[in-house]
Amino acid sequence: MKKGFIITIDGPAGSGKSSTARLLASKLDFLYLDTGAMYRCVALAALDAGVDLKNENAVGGVAGSVNIDFLHADDENKVLLDGEDVSSRIREPRVDSASSLVSSYRIVREKMVDLQRKFGAKGDIIAEGRDMGTVVFPDADLKIFLVADLETRARRRCLQLNDAGIESSIEEQTASLSSRDMFDSNRKFSPLEKAPDAVEIDTSNISLNEQVQKIYDVVVRRLNLE
Ligand code: DC
Repeated sequence: MKKGFIITIDGPAGSGKSSTARLLASKLDFLYLDTGAMYRCVALAALDAGVDLKNENAVGGVAGSVNIDFLHADDENKVLLDGEDVSSRIREPRVDSASSLVSSYRIVREKMVDLQRKFGAKGDIIAEGRDMGTVVFPDADLKIFLVADLETRARRRCLQLNDAGIESSIEEQTASLSSRDMFDSNRKFSPLEKAPDAVEIDTSNISLNEQVQKIYDVVVRRLNLE
């Protein structure tokens, strides 16, 4: 298999990016880069430090001082913030809106994009987020853009949270996702948008396995991996 590929997966919250990227990375033996988790780490560190999230410079200071890393072991992806495993804490609902806000700051994005490109330099990576194909890796070998209708996404998020022991309703998730969609798509720096050369896949009516297989087929065809 040829080495050194970058595959990007972008799309709105709940479109299935994370599960798809994780499964695909393990199928292809690629590294999975969850860039949403990085913005979530900045938000969590700011919340823990009692920093006013509306204070862009203060949040920028947090982004510049935290150490974010990933640990891939035994098919598990752990997110480390200053050496501590925060994989569960960054998924708390309060971190959803906080991460959306901190990710709108240019100073935060610059620091995260630098780090993302460092991870990407290793190659054979699936980078998942909002601006992977448009800004961070514009020369990626393959760009995927996932979409799904709001109701499906809210249902999925609700199940994920409930599985993690966090109570939430479909109504709550519908409201949270639609406000995050609006904010992420309309911010000034690197808004969520589809790269012109991305392959769009609607995951509303297909299962996770079908969606992974569909993208796997595109990957194999486009990157001549067989
Ligand atoms: O994918 P996620 O829900 O974990 O992302 C959390 C927030 O981070 C999301 O509301 C928007 C932001 N984000 C971003 O701006 N750019 C990325 N590449 C990834 C996430």
